[in-house]
Amino acid sequence: MTQDELKALVGRAALDQVPDGAIVGVGTGSTVDHFIDALATRRDRIAGAVSSSERSSERLRRHGIRVLQTAEVQSLPLYVDGADEIDGQGCMIKGGGAALTREKIVADLAERFVCIADQSKRVQTLGAFALPVEVIAMATDRIVRRFAALGGRAMLRAGVLTDNGHPLLDVHGLHISDPLAMETEINQWPGVVTVGLFARHRASLCLLGTAQGVQRITFSE
Ligand code: A5P
Repeated sequence: MTQDELKALVGRAALDQVPDGAIVGVGTGSTVDHFIDALATRRDRIAGAVSSSERSSERLRRHGIRVLQTAEVQSLPLYVDGADEIDGQGCMIKGGGAALTREKIVADLAERFVCIADQSKRVQTLGAFALPVEVIAMATDRIVRRFAALGGRAMLRAGVLTDNGHPLLDVHGLHISDPLAMETEINQWPGVVTVGLFARHRASLCLLGTAQGVQRITFSE
């Protein structure tokens, strides 16, 4: 199977996680696009979706799925999203599609994070994929130097601003053996809007697309 076929497989498999009548938290990316397309076949059985990007909102609306604002919900039963990398504890690197801040906001509303990913995303240790970090522009140079002190090379993602209007750094060369500690540390740096480490908001379940089918990996609380 191609990588895209594996993404489609897990996008469809995630439907089983969606309770009838739910408002569904919806992430961003090519894997989530498949989930949204599958969700459209059940649109009469859900109450709507809260989305983490303009891209996903537009796709949801095109399918006739009602998109609610975060202010309209108190909590969500689940959030379904992809990942750039996921480790053995369910910690993830996210933000390859530049939507990391809204992804973390919507994930924070959800009781469960269901990660859908093809098998290439499963890693032992996070960090081979450059870590995305959304920053306030005036703090960029300082944050680049802070990453250098940690052994990371932070590069500005050229020509990209997030949905929130901020620049993004991609940090190469980090070996992230303690994702929670690193997320906590980077979150303290002035000018960091969001670091694309999801350790506090790690997955409770990963549906991993493999040549043998969908592998379900549950992570302890
Ligand atoms: C979007 O900002 C990201 O967090 C995506 O979830 C991640 O990049 C996975 O994307 P794909 O599903 O396109 O691989």
